[in-house]
Amino acid sequence: MSATNIILIGPMGSGKSTIGQLLAQRLNRDFYDTDFYIEEKTGVDIPRIFDVEGEEGFRQRETRAIEELVSLDNVVLATGGGSVMREENRKLLRSNSYIIFLDTSVEQQLERLRHDKKRPLLQTENPRDRLQQLLAERKPVYMELADLSIPTDRKFARRVAAEIIPKLPEYLTR
Ligand code: S3P
Repeated sequence: MSATNIILIGPMGSGKSTIGQLLAQRLNRDFYDTDFYIEEKTGVDIPRIFDVEGEEGFRQRETRAIEELVSLDNVVLATGGGSVMREENRKLLRSNSYIIFLDTSVEQQLERLRHDKKRPLLQTENPRDRLQQLLAERKPVYMELADLSIPTDRKFARRVAAEIIPKLPEYLTR
């Protein structure tokens, strides 16, 4: 069966939520974001979940969220930057979906996230080192999983969305 969902993967600050919303508008689809979904379901924000349950607790909630959201049809879904690291999640993400990797440098991530307080993994002495280390681990996985990779550095979200649309297979844009 052909893919029906469009899934955005990539690191923190790659623009998954903003670009996902734009794509959903243009393609007349519903938009979901795993982080927002978890926050809505639990009634607390992501930093609070990390505080109370640790990263492992958050990852369990993330897997459950992905499981529920990929069972929908014809949606655009933005995922958390670390979601691709569990084999279980990769399997769920691959089912029934077309996956787009928003390829973004650490420099660009730092610029977009410089005032961020909502990413527990960046509340460290040296966010640059942390982002570098995470990207080194994760980039090969993003690339392996993606049907399409789009560079986002120095581009506004609107431009990235406009670049993606003509590259999508025709059955996704009908
Ligand atoms: C994380 C990325 C965040 C969020 C959590 C962990 C990660 O989502 O899921 O803070 O491991 O990279 P975004 O990629 O939307 O920032």
